[in-house]
Amino acid sequence: MVSLLALSLLAVPLASAQAISSKRGLCYVATKDSSQDDKIWTESGSDLTWYYNYGASPTSDIGNTELTFVPMQWGAPPTSTDMTFYNTVEGLIKSGTKIPYALGFNEPDGCANGGSCVDAETAASTWIREIEPLKKNYKVSLGAPAVTGSPAGFTWLQNFFTACNGGCTPDFIPVHWYGNFEGLASHIGQVNATYPNMTMWVTEYGYPEMSLKDTQDFYNQSASYMDRLSYVTHYSYFGAFRSSVSNVGPNAAMLTQKGELTDIGAWYLGEKAEGNKPKGGAAQVAKFAGWAMVVVGVMFWLV
Ligand SMILES: *[C@@H]1O[C@H](CO)[C@@H](O)[C@H](O)[C@H]1NC(C)=O
Ligand SMILES: *[C@@H]1O[C@H](CO)[C@@H](O)[C@H](O)[C@H]1NC(C)=O
Ligand SMILES: *[C@@H]1O[C@H](CO)[C@@H](O)[C@H](O)[C@H]1NC(C)=O
Repeated sequence: MVSLLALSLLAVPLASAQAISSKRGLCYVATKDSSQDDKIWTESGSDLTWYYNYGASPTSDIGNTELTFVPMQWGAPPTSTDMTFYNTVEGLIKSGTKIPYALGFNEPDGCANGGSCVDAETAASTWIREIEPLKKNYKVSLGAPAVTGSPAGFTWLQNFFTACNGGCTPDFIPVHWYGNFEGLASHIGQVNATYPNMTMWVTEYGYPEMSLKDTQDFYNQSASYMDRLSYVTHYSYFGAFRSSVSNVGPNAAMLTQKGELTDIGAWYLGEKAEGNKPKGGAAQVAKFAGWAMVVVGVMFWLV
């Protein structure tokens, strides 16, 4: 079923990946090299139009650029009356920051290493208290919880909407995918079939631990595919860090171990590739919010 769907999607002719795309954004992951590397993402004229950093507040080096910041309520707040996320976003809006969009929950269905592991009921009550009012009061367009690409993700979302009892009205649905292009296309199709009334943002995706050629082929195919799908309005490739600290394999990174753009990094920004080859570092233990589910997802999908 899944592979048939993928095949029918693949029959759509492929366009050039280098077409300028305003859908592209930055999934910002803080690393020890970030302060040196941040300027590469903000050069004017790049294809990037937006970014998120898994948090409610902008990243200082990027905050004052043309990139639109998209705040995220990463996980469950400490108490059931907490208003930190709402208040932070409201503060940004009141001080003049444009906040057209907000995202709710990073991989809440993921409970090993780095998923935010939020049960559907807690997520629903948090959403109704802190996220839904952003739309009502400030016309912020809301992204549904970004579940993992596993079947458990669909179940979690279904439970979330049941627990919301009509009180959660996301405008678009974020998607995460780690695996090959056919899998990505099939997953996008399955999400669209399940939630046909929401546009889609692919907020983490990649083909981890593959050869450079396979990774580049995946990148080009998926970028041109998402550029052509009108209901995918935004996407952010994983990831924006050096190959030496990548936990999705060196070839997936957009920066080399020295902080230069790899070919994928250059194509993603709409620049000319220089042939900079990514090299790996010592085996990394996932350290950053949002990372570790990648590893779990990869094991899930590639075995
Ligand atoms: C990927 O796309 C870029 C830009 O269109 C092109 O220059 C490059 O040759 C492509 N690479 C692969 C591996 O298809
Ligand atoms: C996405 O969903 C819409 C609405 O059901 C449907 O018309 C469209 O064919 C779907 N697209 C794909 C690629 O599945
Ligand atoms: C999608 O929107 C249409 C038109 O508003 C509505 O009839 C339909 O029930 C909606 N589908 C879902 C799954 O919400």
